[in-house]
Amino acid sequence: MDDHAFRTEGLVKRFGRTTALAGVDLHARHGTVLGVLGPNGAGKTTAIRVLATLTGFDAGTARVGGLDVVRDADRVRRLIGLTGQYATLDEELTGLGNLVLIGRLLDLRKPDAVRRAKELLDRFGLEDAARRPVATYSGGMRRRLDLAASLVGRPRVVFLDEPSVGLDPGRREDLWRVVRELTADGASVLLTTQYLEEADALADSIAVIDHGRVIAHGTPSELKRIVGGQAIAARPRDPHRLGDAARILTAVSGHGAERTSTHELVVPVDDDRSLFEVARRFEEQGIALAEFSLRLPGLDEVFLALTGGDNGASDRGAPTDTATARSRA
Ligand SMILES: Nc1ncnc2c1ncn2[C@@H]1O[C@H](COP(=O)(O)OP(=O)(O)OP(=O)(O)O)[C@@H](O)[C@H]1O
Ligand SMILES: [Mg+2]
Repeated sequence: MDDHAFRTEGLVKRFGRTTALAGVDLHARHGTVLGVLGPNGAGKTTAIRVLATLTGFDAGTARVGGLDVVRDADRVRRLIGLTGQYATLDEELTGLGNLVLIGRLLDLRKPDAVRRAKELLDRFGLEDAARRPVATYSGGMRRRLDLAASLVGRPRVVFLDEPSVGLDPGRREDLWRVVRELTADGASVLLTTQYLEEADALADSIAVIDHGRVIAHGTPSELKRIVGGQAIAARPRDPHRLGDAARILTAVSGHGAERTSTHELVVPVDDDRSLFEVARRFEEQGIALAEFSLRLPGLDEVFLALTGGDNGASDRGAPTDTATARSRA
């Protein structure tokens, strides 16, 4: 028996001349969350659709709960819950109606289907909207109902394709809580997201994919190590002093300072004493600071370092290969 909740090996999927998946290996152990990150068009939705038995593929293998998604498609469908990037709800039915219908399709007896539907509406803060047709729902309400719909059958493996798109911060918290409850219950989750913070908060391991390939795989902290130790971030109060501040940061760290859109300068440092040296020189030159800190790299920096921060034409050159090799070591 496979001890993975789901696993793909060498998965290849082409659409005409487009290779959406060019040999993808993804896996997660039972009761864990795999975060899949990647720019638009990387192949995230396609990988989920293969695992959810919604589309065929050209080469490789895909298994869910040890079952082959092609040979055992029916049994796989009984194990999984899927929330798509694009919601699939009946507009004319109420929220309650939608969930009860799904429960009935899953062979629940009517009273059980109603009980389960109410429980989920409650969990996603939709009790008040339960008896309104979905056509009257806001975008965030639809997302939540779609999520609830994927959980009616108490799936053991849950695929969430960008589940928090369109959710306000409070609702995103609700979603995170639900994901944590799912794994606490022993279910496994594949979650795609564009929010690195979300992957950081929820994922046990993360696969970064780009152009249909996994370019890095590891725990959030392993991935952060790819971009190295710590960084100093400094924002001069007077934007006219950015140039002077950048010179100091470069002189002390030996690295070029990067300027962010918020007039902040960021530079990697090898040891935390550099912070004091930078502070001393800022004071000496009378550069007043609005913000000044020593911090660990975030997943944003990892993502940029790996994908070049570009959607279309990133070349898969040496830095990427190094990162992959290191993350696998
Ligand atoms: N049905 C289809 N027909 C043709 N090409 C497709 C189809 N579905 C996906 N593709 C192509 O496959 C590639 C991967 O698409 P996919 O939807 O898996 O990306 P994604 O990582 O989910 O992107 P996004 O972040 O935008 O959701 C893209 O180049 C896309 O244009
Ligand atoms: Mg997608």
